[in-house]
Amino acid sequence: MNKPDLITINDAVKWASNYTNKSVTASNINYLIQYALIDKIITNGMTYISKDELKKYYDRNKIERVWREKLGDDLNWKLSFDNLKESDTTKHVHRLHPYKGKFIPQLVNYFIDSNIDEFKKEVYFKKDDLILDPFCGSGTTLVQANELGINALGIDISDFNTIISNSKIANINLEKLEIILKELTDKLKNYIKINYEFEDELNKRLLEFNN
Ligand SMILES: C[S@@+](CC[C@H](N)C(=O)[O-])C[C@H]1O[C@@H](n2cnc3c(N)ncnc32)[C@H](O)[C@@H]1O
Repeated sequence: MNKPDLITINDAVKWASNYTNKSVTASNINYLIQYALIDKIITNGMTYISKDELKKYYDRNKIERVWREKLGDDLNWKLSFDNLKESDTTKHVHRLHPYKGKFIPQLVNYFIDSNIDEFKKEVYFKKDDLILDPFCGSGTTLVQANELGINALGIDISDFNTIISNSKIANINLEKLEIILKELTDKLKNYIKINYEFEDELNKRLLEFNN
């Protein structure tokens, strides 16, 4: 090997997890190779990648780092939440609908929970208080308030957004839900069966016709 910075995939996983402070897996690294985002070098049957190239890839994607260089340190960078994975920022009900204009729940939590720090110097809400979000969108604030035992009231001009919000905070009867899901699953199975029969017959007839 003539490049001193070449590392194996396993080492790349360790290095990248440490560097990004996120759990980077071998399949994440393989994805980068597969989509030519970084090069792979095969030597003696072993796959290596360049650490320098990997670093450049993660630096390009480090939103916080890029903005920090432009805007300086006079901002609360803790609120960039750059260390969170997509699955954290869309946790549980927040992924029910891919509503693009939503807050990330951790940001809402920061402002409504009972922690303070050098930036948030007082606690604004306590358990059983009532938060009003007059532009509630997909209901992030309502859900996070409920999680903390704070009541919440949401308003939105968009009917569709109120449906998203309401479905996230509705008090669901799990027994009823199970019955409804079973009915739906049975209907779907039946639908698929009928459609397969129809498609099989259609393909058979088409073949006859074409012949
Ligand atoms: C950026 S979104 C809010 C997203 C929300 N914070 C979330 O996490 O899902 C702004 C919302 O304001 C609503 N809106 C705009 N004008 C409004 C008005 N005059 N009255 C009520 N809602 C309004 C929009 O329909 C939209 O859902």
